[in-house]
Amino acid sequence: MKFFVDTADVKEIAELAQTGLLDGVTTNPSLIHKSGRNFLEVVKEIAGIVDGPVSAEVVATEFDEMMREADVVRALAPNIAVKLPLTMDGLKACKRLTDDGTLVNVTLCFSANQALLAAKAGASFISPFVGRHDDVGFDGMALIEDIRLIYDNYDFETEILVASVRHPIHVLESARIGADVMTAPPAVIKALFNHPLTEKGLAAFLADWEKTGQIIG
Ligand code: E4P
Repeated sequence: MKFFVDTADVKEIAELAQTGLLDGVTTNPSLIHKSGRNFLEVVKEIAGIVDGPVSAEVVATEFDEMMREADVVRALAPNIAVKLPLTMDGLKACKRLTDDGTLVNVTLCFSANQALLAAKAGASFISPFVGRHDDVGFDGMALIEDIRLIYDNYDFETEILVASVRHPIHVLESARIGADVMTAPPAVIKALFNHPLTEKGLAAFLADWEKTGQIIG
């Protein structure tokens, strides 16, 4: 499963990129607002830090204006994935852009039927928001299972990008189901490294090593 980080914080992205475990980045208008940076400048900078896809979201809601904004963002770098909302105009733009060879991430997906439409429109990625689905009393991970089943039934190449990930269990379940990608905030990705028994075991090994009085090398 590929790991994307869901942030527009360049310092966090650079730190995670150094682990070699980062396969891409997702941003959205709220994350750009949180960064306090200029949208085009920050996206271009991020696309220079990671080799993988960097999702940059258009804010227009009508086809012609979406296409104009998409032209601006896809010109920033070859690894830009234009992020479009799951609406009729969004999917129309998706079809046009992917026919052109542009990467497209269809966002704000909350049903398996919506995911089916996005795949038929040629989306490179579909982003079902599991956390927001859970928030309103639906089962976010059940949505991922349904989409996996449907995409496998018809050999769709659209990658399932689990979004709105809130905690490590979402990551575990995504991998169990066979999602292609998950995108999570930096804190959730960092939490994956931790286990109390790893910390306890390491402390014990280091304490015993200290008693040997040896150095390596
Ligand atoms: C995905 O591309 C979105 O940016 C993101 O995962 C939304 O997460 P949130 O529901 O925590 O805002």
